[in-house]
Amino acid sequence: MNSASAVKTNNQAKASSATDTHGDKRLKMLSASIKRYQYQQDALIEILHKAQELFGYLENDILVYVAQQLKLPPSRVYGVATFYHLFSLAPSGVHTCVVCTGTACYVKGSPGILTNLEKSLAIHPGETSADGQISLLTARCLGACGIAPAVVFDETVLGYQTPESVVEHIKGWLQNGSS
Ligand code: FES
Repeated sequence: MNSASAVKTNNQAKASSATDTHGDKRLKMLSASIKRYQYQQDALIEILHKAQELFGYLENDILVYVAQQLKLPPSRVYGVATFYHLFSLAPSGVHTCVVCTGTACYVKGSPGILTNLEKSLAIHPGETSADGQISLLTARCLGACGIAPAVVFDETVLGYQTPESVVEHIKGWLQNGSS
């Protein structure tokens, strides 16, 4: 098995401060994107797109973070996120597996990783396994290109993944039961 480099994300801290991006590169990228839009409230949809691209779905903390950054009431951000079908507010599985399909990861083998996951879970990205255990998602660049190909298992980014290692990880989840 390849050595894996783990980078812990810190979801709890994500929304604690408008400027506090901690070590989560994805959040830093989202922050940079918001800056590029000059914190314009009119850019809410584009920013939510970017957030979903980075995180796979729009979790609560991220919506609050975007609301803080754009100085919008959270209710407005929630309203927009729930109105448009293309936004997904939560993965429905117990576990979430997000495969990066950005350029660096693509070149280093993410298509093979995705194919193997699709085959072993019998689902496509955006879907949840029939037993409700695992949601499979894709994202375009997680900000961890140096350890490509990268996959996020729940809140942990693992690098140097292979089609075999990801399936092993999923098996480990299933063997340990739902948490
Ligand atoms: S392309 Fe996958 S982390 Fe950047």
